[in-house]
Amino acid sequence: MKFFLDTADLSEIEEVASWGALAGVTTNPSLYARTGGKLEDFEGHLKKICDLVDGPVSGEVTAEDRDGMVEQGRKLAALADNMVVKIPVCVEGLAATRTLSSEGIDVNMTLVFSVPQALLAARAGARYISPFIGRFDDIAEDGLGQLEDIVTAVKNYDFGHEVEIIAASVRSANHVTQAALMGADIATVPYAAMKKCIKHPLTDQGLAKFKADWEKVK
Ligand code: G3P
Repeated sequence: MKFFLDTADLSEIEEVASWGALAGVTTNPSLYARTGGKLEDFEGHLKKICDLVDGPVSGEVTAEDRDGMVEQGRKLAALADNMVVKIPVCVEGLAATRTLSSEGIDVNMTLVFSVPQALLAARAGARYISPFIGRFDDIAEDGLGQLEDIVTAVKNYDFGHEVEIIAASVRSANHVTQAALMGADIATVPYAAMKKCIKHPLTDQGLAKFKADWEKVK
């Protein structure tokens, strides 16, 4: 499974990229708003992220009609070779995905909460599909179970192009573990959860013991 960072924060991206295991970044309008960025700086900000990351970077359209999504998607895709256009799953989004994917533009279909949504996204040409775990849990549904169903259903078929499932709305290291065990291709993880993925109390204890014992050697 590949690790993407789910953020629009440049310093978080720079730091995690320096760890050596980052394969991509996903953003959305809320994450950009959280940076304090303004509309006029949006495209420049995405371009900066694309320059920092050796891998796909998802930037989301905000238009609500297919023509607007296509126009915005083309503009975003032109920012950098590694730009992926993120589009919400809905009738207009599927139609826009068909157009953009037929032009060779990679689409990440987002806000996916069901198997039919995922299959339709893949049929419309989406290169990435993003089922949300945490937000499904938030409404007392089974986010991981839904992800597992989507992984199974999508892997049952050949869509004539590569399709990767991005486990999104990840809230914990356990989400990452379970997503990997069920064969999700990618987990997009927020910075805080990414740090939790590295930590383990036994690793910390082991390090302290090695350090203490080394002091005796010295
Ligand atoms: O990639 C989608 C993700 O950003 C949604 O996460 O935590 O807002 O549910 P969250």
